[in-house]
Amino acid sequence: MPIVISLGGSFLFEKRNEIDNLFDLINHIKDKFLIVVGGGVLAREYINFAKQFKIEEENLHYIGILSTRINARIISMAYNVKYSEEDPRKLKLHEKVKVMGGYLPGWTTDVCAAYAAKSLKSKIIVNLSKEKGVYDKDPNKFKDAKLLKLISFSALIKLVNEKRYPGANYIFDPLAAEICRKNNISVIVTNDVEDIRKYVDGKKVNGTIII
Ligand code: UTP
Repeated sequence: MPIVISLGGSFLFEKRNEIDNLFDLINHIKDKFLIVVGGGVLAREYINFAKQFKIEEENLHYIGILSTRINARIISMAYNVKYSEEDPRKLKLHEKVKVMGGYLPGWTTDVCAAYAAKSLKSKIIVNLSKEKGVYDKDPNKFKDAKLLKLISFSALIKLVNEKRYPGANYIFDPLAAEICRKNNISVIVTNDVEDIRKYVDGKKVNGTIII
């Protein structure tokens, strides 16, 4: 079964050294991998810059998509893996690893990952983030925020629902959560690449499981 990874921009930029470990790990697992790369600070900086020119919202999203695609291209070049701009709703995976960025204005790369998992008939998305997992409240604002081991999609959607805008930042996009819920796709939110190995081996992961 293919494994879909939503490689958050925050993970890419802040845990750069972990990317080598990620690919090392992938090469030791027999399953195929589809990696959707986020834009992180690059997307937000570019969107904010573009806003100064009074560019309309749809085009701001497109600037976000281009940022995710730059990051995806870098990963493709660095690890010599296939880069794609296919529609994640019609995705095929013939190679061991394929990497892509965003696709449609108004989505996020989490949404792409959710659609990709659906079209590849994958039952799992590993969402790599700079955060350890999902907390009961924002850990950057509240010192007593508790890391959740398990949460349902409906509870997560309640926790993170807010108005969508270009460059909005979610631990896992509620729109993606809804697609996963409907299609019985589970999500692991983690900052630990070893959780991929643990999942494959049927062991307990360190991050949060969303079901
Ligand atoms: P990201 O997927 O990078 O969002 O898209 P994020 O929540 O910041 O995720 P991480 O932290 O990088 O994982 C950045 C912006 O690009 C646009 C949106 O405006 C989004 O907020 N985007 C991205 C799209 O419009 N469509 C896509 O398919 C992907």
